[in-house]
Amino acid sequence: MAPQPISHPDVALNLALAVVASSTAPLLLINGDLRLIGASKSFCRAFEIDPASVPDKALRELGAGEWNVPQLNVLLKATASGHAEVEGYEIDLRRTGKPDRRLVLNAQKLAYADEDSVLLLVSVLDVTDARIAEKLKDDLLRDKAVLLQELQHRVANSLQIIASVLMQSARKVQSEEARGHLHDAHQRVMSVASLQHQLAASAVGNVELRPYFTALCESIGASMIRDHTKLSLSIDIDGSVTSADESVSLGLIVTELVINALKHAFPNDRRGAIKVGYHSQGPNWTLSVVDNGVGMPKDIANAKPGLGTSIVQALTVQLRGVIKVVDGNPGMAVFITHSHLAVVPNANDAVQANRAV
Ligand SMILES: Nc1ncnc2c1ncn2[C@@H]1O[C@H](COP(=O)(O)OP(=O)(O)OP(=O)(O)O)[C@@H](O)[C@H]1O
Ligand SMILES: [Mg+2]
Repeated sequence: MAPQPISHPDVALNLALAVVASSTAPLLLINGDLRLIGASKSFCRAFEIDPASVPDKALRELGAGEWNVPQLNVLLKATASGHAEVEGYEIDLRRTGKPDRRLVLNAQKLAYADEDSVLLLVSVLDVTDARIAEKLKDDLLRDKAVLLQELQHRVANSLQIIASVLMQSARKVQSEEARGHLHDAHQRVMSVASLQHQLAASAVGNVELRPYFTALCESIGASMIRDHTKLSLSIDIDGSVTSADESVSLGLIVTELVINALKHAFPNDRRGAIKVGYHSQGPNWTLSVVDNGVGMPKDIANAKPGLGTSIVQALTVQLRGVIKVVDGNPGMAVFITHSHLAVVPNANDAVQANRAV
């Protein structure tokens, strides 16, 4: 609501002085000639001004003259004549022997019926400490981000060293079984290393799944697929972005399921395809690894769950998801679904998914 002009100047003046006197925020009451009529106690205390020296003093003479800021004088004059507004105007108050203060000023012309007796109410907010704290916080955040990136680079490098040591060991060992285990361990480390790489490149700690899964599958494919003309590994990932924690779990699940498909689904150089999918809608998402290989062994003895199954189960629980393994006919499809309504794909989805690979 626009302020209504007050008809009697004395009433307005007394009212303005009462406001200034009772204000805990630094306030000044000045007239159109920029002479002080009153100042709040808080103002005098904050800027070390003797309250007795205030009445009728020109603003430019206040204190040791530090309030004589030419631009401010011009602006206040313009405000008094109704041609400008002082809103959020920042000045540096410079006093000899004391640290500078950053002030934010607002001036309001008090509406009068009598145009000759102009009054300006000026609020003075000292934001020096707040600005220093803000800058400190910004600097700290920047330092933290730099440190975090540095750490991620180092972790990614260390993981690659571990992975290459595992690979060298795999080349040296005689036993085929031990070699297989070392290859798997190498792939598991590489999947985390690949995530670290993505994290180091992202500023906010969120991971875009498409580039991450692309890099992950390229790395698994490069080390585990001998003949790319016979076996393909492709991805169908939407533009989802997840937290670093979630993407570590998703990446490790993909690693286990893809290694399983590569190890078990295509014996005797069988041709085929593996497709990794991830689609989300709001908080709901589905991760899938679908192959068109030989499918789950029918005899229980051959389908003995190993480390891979426990890793996938544990990580799915962590992600609050549900695992559904379906016969793809041919092949096998694993769906990990996170859904508020826990809608789990049925066998038809797997058959359809397999038509797509
Ligand atoms: N895509 C698949 N196609 C056919 N069989 C599979 C597939 N995935 C898993 N299996 C079967 O399920 C079994 C259990 O898998 P799991 O990952 O738990 O253990 P593993 O791969 O044998 O060993 P580990 O994961 O410890 O290296 C496998 O041994 C295999 O017989
Ligand atoms: Mg496995």
